[in-house]
Amino acid sequence: MAARIVTVFNQKGGCGKTMTCMQLAAAFALRGHRTLLVDMDKQGTSTIWAGQAGADKPFPATVISLAPLREKMLGEIEKHAANYDFIFIDCPPAIESSIPWAALNVSDIGLIPVIPLMDNVWASREAKELARRAKQENASLQTYCIPSMSRRGNVFKACTEILQDDQEIPLLDTGLQQRNAYGESQMFGLSVHAVAGAGAAVKEVEALADVVLEKLGLPVGKKSGKTKATKQNVEVV
Ligand SMILES: Nc1ncnc2c1ncn2[C@@H]1O[C@H](COP(=O)(O)OP(=O)(O)OP(=O)(O)O)[C@@H](O)[C@H]1O
Ligand SMILES: [Mg+2]
Repeated sequence: MAARIVTVFNQKGGCGKTMTCMQLAAAFALRGHRTLLVDMDKQGTSTIWAGQAGADKPFPATVISLAPLREKMLGEIEKHAANYDFIFIDCPPAIESSIPWAALNVSDIGLIPVIPLMDNVWASREAKELARRAKQENASLQTYCIPSMSRRGNVFKACTEILQDDQEIPLLDTGLQQRNAYGESQMFGLSVHAVAGAGAAVKEVEALADVVLEKLGLPVGKKSGKTKATKQNVEVV
């Protein structure tokens, strides 16, 4: 498959999977990458979200739902892979379903958004276990936890430290903090990039996009124009 595939998954409902997936897909699309988001959740949140956008200002990435196909979405994704640089897969909150398993088997990166609270930490263990099993089938799969909806406070700090202790599936430093701008962007079918006064949110989404590129061994920054060279890579042409 030509496209790089990033799957966002977790057993925990409401932990920020769709938010992370949509903001990242928008960031990649706005950087000039051909970007597809595949909504694999029958709730259809991503699909409805993108559908809120006006024709004059569409959601930056292409969003399609393949949820009814369940694990058979792989055939469709394969057809799309030649036409996109990046495919983001937004999974339902169902680790035991065939969907995250199938998605991880064709992914380059798996991202587990975790709210740094104990119930989320406990639930992340199941997601991590799935990632470990998927890696046995897909050796190049990299999986990371990312902080989601984090705020200041002792509990958040303590739970972050627990997640940081895992060396095998590490916690990235970069994630989306709890901010009104995220909810606002969803309301209007946009990403935070189009929300007035959302500079802090944009900064953290862009930082996460850079981390994903870096983990993929690709040049960080915009697709065209000036890019920062990563340790693994030199300038993009
Ligand atoms: N960083 C954030 N700041 C503020 N609100 C957020 C943030 N991330 C997510 N939310 C809100 O929290 C709720 C749950 O987020 P989201 O839908 O992304 O979770 P999910 O893991 O995809 O849920 P589900 O398991 O139902 O698919 C939504 O109302 C969303 O708008
Ligand atoms: Mg969701």
